[in-house]
Amino acid sequence: MTKLWGGRFQQTAEQWVDAFGASIHFDQALVMEDITGSLAHVQMLGEQGILSEDEVKQITEGLHALQAKAENGELEFSIDQEDIHLNLEKQLIDLIGPVGGKLHTGRSRNDQVATDMHLYLKKRTNEIIDLIVAFQKVLVMQAETHVETLAPGYTHLQRAQPVSFGHHLMTYFWMLERDKARFVDGLKRTDCSPLGAGALAGTTFPIDRARSAELLGFSSIYENSLDAVSDRDFIVEFLSASSLLMTHLSRFAEEIILWSSQEFSFIELSDSFSTGSSIMPQKKNPDMAELIRGKTGRVYGNLFGLLTVLKGLPLAYNKDMQEDKEGMFDTVETVTGSLKIFAGMVESMAVRTETLESAVESDFSNATELADYLATKGMPFREAHDVTGRVVFHCIQNGIFLKDVSLATYQDYSSLIEDDIYTALSPREAVRRRNSLGGTGFEQVRLQLQKAKALLA
Ligand code: ARG
Repeated sequence: MTKLWGGRFQQTAEQWVDAFGASIHFDQALVMEDITGSLAHVQMLGEQGILSEDEVKQITEGLHALQAKAENGELEFSIDQEDIHLNLEKQLIDLIGPVGGKLHTGRSRNDQVATDMHLYLKKRTNEIIDLIVAFQKVLVMQAETHVETLAPGYTHLQRAQPVSFGHHLMTYFWMLERDKARFVDGLKRTDCSPLGAGALAGTTFPIDRARSAELLGFSSIYENSLDAVSDRDFIVEFLSASSLLMTHLSRFAEEIILWSSQEFSFIELSDSFSTGSSIMPQKKNPDMAELIRGKTGRVYGNLFGLLTVLKGLPLAYNKDMQEDKEGMFDTVETVTGSLKIFAGMVESMAVRTETLESAVESDFSNATELADYLATKGMPFREAHDVTGRVVFHCIQNGIFLKDVSLATYQDYSSLIEDDIYTALSPREAVRRRNSLGGTGFEQVRLQLQKAKALLA
C-alpha cells in the first residue's frame, strides 16, 4: 500500500514494522475531533482565498459524508494508513478525488494531532466536571439525612471522638470541590488552539489562526509554533488532577469497604453495586469500591508514563509523543466510570444508623469531654488530661465505660466533678457542643451544607 508520504521512499516497510508505528487502533477515538478540526481548517483556507470556493465546498461535503459514516460506525480504518489523520485524508481523497489532497494545505499532522487532543480533552474534562457535581449532590443529600447521626470519628483508625456522620461524608464533598477547581483551571490551558503552527515553524500560506480557533470554539491560541506542537502540559495537568481525584475516591473506597465489613457494619451496599462469591453463598462483596481503589494505581501510572515520555524530548514534535494517547484515553474512561459508579453506590447505600450510634455509646471516645469538663472548671488542661487518663484506666480495669463510673468515684479523682458530668459525657452532647467554625456540631454541619449547596447552585 502506498503511503500518503511515500514519494521520497524506494522501499516499503514490512507490515509488522508498520504495525509497530501505527496508532490507528487507539487514535480512532479522535475521529470526530479530527473531522471537526479539518472542517474549521478548510473553511478558514477558503475565507483567506487559499482554496477556491468550489474546492472548499467539495472538501466540506466530503468531510460531512465521512462524519455521517463515523457517527453510524461505518468508517473502516487500516493500519496501512498509520493513524487517524492519514486514514481520514485517504478516505476523503478516495471519496472526492485529488482535490481532497488540498485539505492538508498549510497544516501538518503535528498541529493537527495537537488540535485533536485539545478538542477531545476539553470535551471530556467538561463531562468529568459535570460528573463531579452530580456526585457532590449525592453527598449533600446523604449528609443532610445524617446530620444528626452519630458515628465514631477516628485517628490512627482508633476511636477518637464522636462526630456527625453527615460531617464525615461532607469531607469528600470538599475534596471533590478542590478536584473540580483543578479540572476547571486545567481547562484554561486545554482550551487553547495549536492549529496553524504547522509542522513546527508556522506556514508560508496567509492563514488566519484566530479564525480557525474561533471556529473550533477555542478561547486562546498558542503564541509560539514550536510550543504549540510540542506542548503536552495540558495532558499532564489532566492526568495529575485525575490522579488526585482518584486518590480521594480510593480513600473513600477504602472506607466503604471497611464500613461494609461485618466488623464495622456501618453501611450496607445495595445489591446493584455489590457482587457475590462463586463458592461462598453468604458473601456480598464491595467489588466496585475495590476496583476503584485498584484502578487508582493505573491512573498514577499514566501520569508518570507521560511525564517520563516528555522529560528528554528535544523540540519540537517527536514520535515519542504518540505515547500521550493511550494513558489519556484510559484515564478519561477510568475517571468517568469511577465517578458514575461512586455516585450510584453512595446514593443507594443503606446507613445503619443504630450500629453507628451504639458504637459511640460503648467506647472511650468521650474521654476528651471529661478532660474539657475539668478544664472548663478551671483545672489546667494538662492536669485534666492526666486525671481523665487515670479514670479511663480505672474503667478498663473494671470493664466499664465513663458513663458507668459513680459520682463518688469521680469525686475521688477530682472534687470539681459534679452531677452534670453525665450530660457532658453523652456522645450526642459531645457532638452538639463542638460548635467551633467547621466543627462537627450539628449547627456547624448545617451551615456547611448551606455553603455547599450555594456552591452547587
Ligand atoms: N500519530 C501521530 C501522533 O499521534 C500523529 C502525528 C504524526 N506526526 C509525524 N510527524 N509523524 O503523534
